[in-house]
Amino acid sequence: MSPNSTRLTGRTALVTGSTGGLGVTIAHALAADGAVVVVTGRDVARGESVVAGIRADGASAHFVAADLGGADEQAIDGLAQRAAEAASAGIDILVNNAAKLLLPEPTATLSAGEVAEAFTVNVVAPMLLTGRLASAMAARGSGSVVNIGSITGLRGTAGSAVYDATKASVHSLTRSWAAEYGPSGVRVNAVAPGPIATERAAEFAEHIAPALARVPSRRMSTPQEVAAAVVFLASDDAANIQGAVLSVDGGWAAT
Ligand SMILES: NC(=O)c1ccc[n+]([C@@H]2O[C@H](COP(=O)([O-])OP(=O)(O)OC[C@H]3O[C@@H](n4cnc5c(N)ncnc54)[C@H](OP(=O)(O)O)[C@@H]3O)[C@@H](O)[C@H]2O)c1
Repeated sequence: MSPNSTRLTGRTALVTGSTGGLGVTIAHALAADGAVVVVTGRDVARGESVVAGIRADGASAHFVAADLGGADEQAIDGLAQRAAEAASAGIDILVNNAAKLLLPEPTATLSAGEVAEAFTVNVVAPMLLTGRLASAMAARGSGSVVNIGSITGLRGTAGSAVYDATKASVHSLTRSWAAEYGPSGVRVNAVAPGPIATERAAEFAEHIAPALARVPSRRMSTPQEVAAAVVFLASDDAANIQGAVLSVDGGWAAT
Protein backbone atom coordinates (compact mmCIF):
# COMPACT_ATOMS: atom_id res chain seq x y z
CA MET A 1 0.00 0.00 0.00
CA SER A 2 1.54 3.31 -0.99
CA PRO A 3 0.73 6.65 0.67
CA ASN A 4 -2.99 7.32 0.09
CA SER A 5 -3.08 11.05 0.74
CA THR A 6 -0.71 13.98 0.76
CA ARG A 7 -2.30 15.95 3.60
CA LEU A 8 0.71 15.30 5.88
CA THR A 9 3.41 15.41 3.20
CA GLY A 10 6.44 17.35 4.39
CA ARG A 11 5.62 16.72 8.08
CA THR A 12 7.51 14.55 10.51
CA ALA A 13 5.61 12.69 13.23
CA LEU A 14 6.86 11.05 16.42
CA VAL A 15 4.51 8.39 17.82
CA THR A 16 5.38 7.07 21.28
CA GLY A 17 4.47 3.45 21.96
CA SER A 18 4.38 2.59 18.27
CA THR A 19 6.09 -0.79 18.67
CA GLY A 20 2.77 -2.45 19.54
CA GLY A 21 -0.99 -2.09 19.80
CA LEU A 22 -2.76 1.08 18.73
CA GLY A 23 0.53 2.96 18.14
CA VAL A 24 1.41 0.70 15.20
CA THR A 25 -1.86 1.53 13.46
CA ILE A 26 -1.40 5.26 14.18
CA ALA A 27 2.13 5.14 12.73
CA HIS A 28 0.86 3.40 9.57
CA ALA A 29 -2.04 5.86 9.21
CA LEU A 30 0.17 8.96 9.55
CA ALA A 31 2.65 7.50 7.05
CA ALA A 32 -0.14 6.64 4.62
CA ASP A 33 -1.12 10.32 4.67
CA GLY A 34 2.42 11.33 3.72
CA ALA A 35 4.18 11.97 7.05
CA VAL A 36 7.69 10.72 7.79
CA VAL A 37 7.10 8.71 10.96
CA VAL A 38 9.49 8.11 13.83
CA VAL A 39 8.49 4.90 15.61
CA THR A 40 9.54 4.55 19.24
CA GLY A 41 9.24 2.12 22.14
CA ARG A 42 11.47 -0.21 24.13
CA ASP A 43 11.28 -3.31 21.93
CA VAL A 44 13.86 -2.94 19.15
CA ALA A 45 12.80 -5.99 17.14
CA ARG A 46 9.12 -4.94 17.09
CA GLY A 47 10.08 -1.33 16.31
CA GLU A 48 12.22 -2.33 13.36
CA SER A 49 9.49 -4.62 12.10
CA VAL A 50 6.95 -1.75 12.22
CA VAL A 51 9.36 0.47 10.26
CA ALA A 52 9.92 -2.29 7.70
CA GLY A 53 6.14 -2.63 7.27
CA ILE A 54 5.68 1.11 6.70
CA ARG A 55 8.53 1.18 4.20
CA ALA A 56 7.10 -1.85 2.43
CA ASP A 57 3.95 0.24 1.94
CA GLY A 58 6.07 2.84 0.12
CA ALA A 59 6.12 5.34 2.99
CA SER A 60 8.92 6.65 5.16
CA ALA A 61 9.73 5.67 8.76
CA HIS A 62 12.60 5.39 11.24
CA PHE A 63 12.97 3.66 14.61
CA VAL A 64 14.40 5.20 17.77
CA ALA A 65 14.45 2.99 20.88
CA ALA A 66 13.50 4.68 24.15
CA ASP A 67 12.26 3.67 27.60
CA LEU A 68 9.84 6.23 29.03
CA GLY A 69 9.69 4.39 32.34
CA GLY A 70 12.53 6.33 33.89
CA ALA A 71 11.40 9.56 32.29
CA ASP A 72 13.92 12.18 33.22
CA GLU A 73 14.81 15.32 31.33
CA GLN A 74 18.02 13.84 29.90
CA ALA A 75 16.34 10.70 28.54
CA ILE A 76 13.55 12.75 26.97
CA ASP A 77 15.99 15.24 25.46
CA GLY A 78 17.87 12.25 24.02
CA LEU A 79 14.69 10.83 22.45
CA ALA A 80 13.69 14.20 20.99
CA GLN A 81 17.16 14.74 19.55
CA ARG A 82 17.56 11.23 18.13
CA ALA A 83 14.07 11.40 16.57
CA ALA A 84 14.90 14.66 14.77
CA GLU A 85 18.26 13.27 13.65
CA ALA A 86 16.70 10.04 12.36
CA ALA A 87 14.16 12.00 10.31
CA SER A 88 16.62 14.79 9.40
CA ALA A 89 13.88 17.26 10.33
CA GLY A 90 12.16 18.89 13.29
CA ILE A 91 9.14 17.07 14.70
CA ASP A 92 5.88 18.64 13.45
CA ILE A 93 3.46 16.13 14.97
CA LEU A 94 3.79 14.47 18.37
CA VAL A 95 1.44 11.64 19.33
CA ASN A 96 1.68 10.83 23.04
CA ASN A 97 0.37 7.27 22.84
CA ALA A 98 2.63 5.11 25.03
CA ALA A 99 1.04 4.11 28.30
CA LYS A 100 1.25 1.65 31.10
CA LEU A 101 -2.09 -0.20 31.09
CA LEU A 102 -3.02 -1.69 34.46
CA LEU A 103 -5.18 -4.73 35.04
CA PRO A 104 -8.10 -3.92 37.37
CA GLU A 105 -7.02 -4.04 41.01
CA PRO A 106 -8.53 -2.76 44.28
CA THR A 107 -7.03 0.55 45.39
CA ALA A 108 -6.08 -0.98 48.74
CA THR A 109 -3.63 -3.42 47.16
CA LEU A 110 -1.89 -0.94 44.88
CA SER A 111 1.70 -0.22 45.81
CA ALA A 112 3.27 3.22 45.69
CA GLY A 113 5.72 1.82 43.14
CA GLU A 114 2.94 0.75 40.74
CA VAL A 115 1.28 4.15 41.05
CA ALA A 116 4.56 5.98 40.45
CA GLU A 117 5.33 3.84 37.39
CA ALA A 118 1.90 4.47 35.85
CA PHE A 119 2.18 8.22 36.41
CA THR A 120 5.74 8.28 35.09
CA VAL A 121 4.91 6.61 31.76
CA ASN A 122 1.39 8.02 31.29
CA VAL A 123 1.83 11.59 32.59
CA VAL A 124 5.42 12.63 33.32
CA ALA A 125 6.91 11.29 30.07
CA PRO A 126 4.36 13.01 27.78
CA MET A 127 4.73 16.16 29.88
CA LEU A 128 8.50 16.26 29.42
CA LEU A 129 8.31 15.30 25.74
CA THR A 130 5.63 17.89 24.99
CA GLY A 131 7.56 20.53 26.90
CA ARG A 132 10.55 19.82 24.70
CA LEU A 133 8.87 19.33 21.30
CA ALA A 134 5.91 21.73 21.53
CA SER A 135 8.33 24.50 22.50
CA ALA A 136 10.36 23.77 19.37
CA MET A 137 7.13 23.72 17.29
CA ALA A 138 6.12 27.05 18.86
CA ALA A 139 9.48 28.55 17.93
CA ARG A 140 8.78 27.48 14.30
CA GLY A 141 5.19 28.79 14.53
CA SER A 142 3.31 25.54 13.82
CA GLY A 143 2.81 21.98 14.95
CA SER A 144 0.32 19.57 16.40
CA VAL A 145 0.24 17.39 19.51
CA VAL A 146 -2.30 14.59 19.86
CA ASN A 147 -2.56 12.90 23.25
CA ILE A 148 -4.16 9.52 23.68
CA GLY A 149 -6.51 9.73 26.63
CA SER A 150 -9.29 7.29 27.43
CA ILE A 151 -12.96 6.90 28.28
CA THR A 152 -11.58 5.99 31.71
CA GLY A 153 -10.38 9.59 32.09
CA LEU A 154 -14.00 10.71 31.68
CA ARG A 155 -15.89 8.00 33.58
CA GLY A 156 -14.99 6.27 36.84
CA THR A 157 -14.31 2.54 36.73
CA ALA A 158 -14.13 0.33 39.83
CA GLY A 159 -10.66 -1.19 40.16
CA SER A 160 -9.06 1.28 37.78
CA ALA A 161 -8.57 4.35 39.95
CA VAL A 162 -4.91 5.00 39.17
CA TYR A 163 -5.05 4.33 35.43
CA ASP A 164 -8.21 6.48 35.28
CA ALA A 165 -6.41 9.29 37.13
CA THR A 166 -3.49 9.19 34.69
CA LYS A 167 -5.87 9.48 31.75
CA ALA A 168 -7.87 12.31 33.38
CA SER A 169 -4.51 14.04 33.79
CA VAL A 170 -3.82 13.58 30.07
CA HIS A 171 -7.14 15.27 29.26
CA SER A 172 -6.37 18.12 31.63
CA LEU A 173 -2.85 18.56 30.23
CA THR A 174 -4.37 18.72 26.74
CA ARG A 175 -6.50 21.75 27.69
CA SER A 176 -3.65 23.49 29.52
CA TRP A 177 -1.18 22.93 26.67
CA ALA A 178 -3.74 24.25 24.18
CA ALA A 179 -3.85 27.44 26.24
CA GLU A 180 -0.06 27.52 26.60
CA TYR A 181 1.05 26.69 23.03
CA GLY A 182 -2.01 27.67 20.97
CA PRO A 183 -1.08 31.35 20.67
CA SER A 184 2.23 30.23 19.09
CA GLY A 185 0.52 28.18 16.37
CA VAL A 186 0.68 24.77 18.03
CA ARG A 187 -2.57 22.80 18.33
CA VAL A 188 -2.98 20.33 21.19
CA ASN A 189 -5.87 17.88 21.24
CA ALA A 190 -6.66 14.43 22.60
CA VAL A 191 -8.49 11.34 21.48
CA ALA A 192 -10.37 9.48 24.23
CA PRO A 193 -10.97 5.94 23.01
CA GLY A 194 -13.30 3.43 24.55
CA PRO A 195 -12.11 -0.17 24.42
CA ILE A 196 -10.09 -0.91 21.29
CA ALA A 197 -9.87 -4.30 19.63
CA THR A 198 -6.10 -4.66 20.01
CA GLU A 199 -4.22 -7.86 20.91
CA ARG A 200 -4.16 -6.76 24.56
CA ALA A 201 -7.94 -6.24 24.68
CA ALA A 202 -8.38 -9.97 25.39
CA GLU A 203 -6.72 -9.43 28.79
CA PHE A 204 -9.47 -6.98 29.71
CA ALA A 205 -12.37 -8.76 27.97
CA GLU A 206 -14.24 -9.90 31.10
CA HIS A 207 -14.08 -6.39 32.58
CA ILE A 208 -15.15 -4.69 29.36
CA ALA A 209 -18.06 -6.95 28.39
CA PRO A 210 -20.67 -5.60 30.88
CA ALA A 211 -19.90 -2.00 29.91
CA LEU A 212 -20.01 -2.72 26.19
CA ALA A 213 -23.53 -4.06 26.61
CA ARG A 214 -24.59 -0.51 27.55
CA VAL A 215 -22.58 1.32 24.85
CA PRO A 216 -24.79 2.57 21.99
CA SER A 217 -22.61 0.93 19.31
CA ARG A 218 -22.42 -2.32 21.40
CA ARG A 219 -18.83 -2.89 20.22
CA MET A 220 -15.19 -1.91 20.65
CA SER A 221 -13.52 0.52 18.25
CA THR A 222 -11.07 -0.83 15.72
CA PRO A 223 -7.52 0.57 15.93
CA GLN A 224 -8.11 2.07 12.46
CA GLU A 225 -11.13 4.05 13.73
CA VAL A 226 -9.06 5.55 16.55
CA ALA A 227 -6.08 6.21 14.27
CA ALA A 228 -8.33 8.05 11.79
CA ALA A 229 -9.30 10.49 14.57
CA VAL A 230 -5.64 11.00 15.47
CA VAL A 231 -4.68 11.74 11.86
CA PHE A 232 -7.63 14.14 11.51
CA LEU A 233 -6.61 16.08 14.64
CA ALA A 234 -2.96 16.13 13.52
CA SER A 235 -3.84 17.48 10.07
CA ASP A 236 -4.86 20.90 8.80
CA ASP A 237 -8.42 19.53 8.45
CA ALA A 238 -8.60 20.28 12.19
CA ALA A 239 -6.96 23.71 11.80
CA ASN A 240 -9.19 25.47 14.34
CA ILE A 241 -9.72 22.57 16.71
CA GLN A 242 -7.79 23.31 19.87
CA GLY A 243 -7.86 21.72 23.33
CA ALA A 244 -10.52 19.18 22.34
CA VAL A 245 -10.92 15.71 23.80
CA LEU A 246 -12.52 13.71 21.01
CA SER A 247 -14.27 10.53 22.15
CA VAL A 248 -14.02 7.50 19.86
CA ASP A 249 -16.05 5.13 21.98
CA GLY A 250 -19.29 4.20 20.23
CA GLY A 251 -21.17 6.68 22.42
CA TRP A 252 -20.04 5.43 25.86
CA ALA A 253 -19.09 8.88 27.19
CA ALA A 254 -22.36 10.35 25.98
CA THR A 255 -24.64 7.88 27.75
N1 LIG B 1 -6.45 -0.76 24.36
C1 LIG B 1 -7.54 -0.08 24.73
O1 LIG B 1 -8.66 -0.63 24.80
C2 LIG B 1 -7.42 1.38 25.06
C3 LIG B 1 -8.59 2.11 25.39
C4 LIG B 1 -8.48 3.47 25.65
C5 LIG B 1 -7.26 4.09 25.60
N2 LIG B 1 -6.14 3.36 25.28
C6 LIG B 1 -4.87 4.08 25.21
O2 LIG B 1 -4.31 3.84 23.93
C7 LIG B 1 -2.89 3.88 24.03
C8 LIG B 1 -2.29 2.62 23.42
O3 LIG B 1 -2.78 1.49 24.14
P1 LIG B 1 -2.55 0.00 23.62
O4 LIG B 1 -3.76 -0.77 23.95
O5 LIG B 1 -2.07 0.02 22.21
O6 LIG B 1 -1.38 -0.46 24.61
P2 LIG B 1 -0.26 -1.58 24.40
O7 LIG B 1 -0.69 -2.58 23.39
O8 LIG B 1 0.10 -2.05 25.77
O9 LIG B 1 0.96 -0.77 23.77
C9 LIG B 1 1.63 0.16 24.56
C10 LIG B 1 2.78 0.76 23.79
O10 LIG B 1 3.47 1.62 24.70
C11 LIG B 1 4.82 1.26 24.76
N3 LIG B 1 5.33 1.41 26.10
C12 LIG B 1 4.81 0.89 27.25
N4 LIG B 1 5.62 1.19 28.29
C13 LIG B 1 6.65 1.92 27.77
C14 LIG B 1 7.82 2.50 28.33
N5 LIG B 1 8.11 2.38 29.63
N6 LIG B 1 8.67 3.17 27.51
C15 LIG B 1 8.43 3.27 26.19
N7 LIG B 1 7.34 2.73 25.60
C16 LIG B 1 6.47 2.05 26.39
C17 LIG B 1 4.89 -0.21 24.30
O11 LIG B 1 6.12 -0.46 23.63
P3 LIG B 1 7.35 -1.32 24.20
O12 LIG B 1 6.78 -2.53 24.89
O13 LIG B 1 8.18 -1.61 22.98
O14 LIG B 1 8.06 -0.39 25.13
C18 LIG B 1 3.76 -0.26 23.28
O15 LIG B 1 4.25 0.13 22.01
C19 LIG B 1 -2.57 4.09 25.50
O16 LIG B 1 -2.36 5.47 25.75
C20 LIG B 1 -3.83 3.61 26.20
O17 LIG B 1 -3.98 4.22 27.46
C21 LIG B 1 -6.20 2.03 25.01
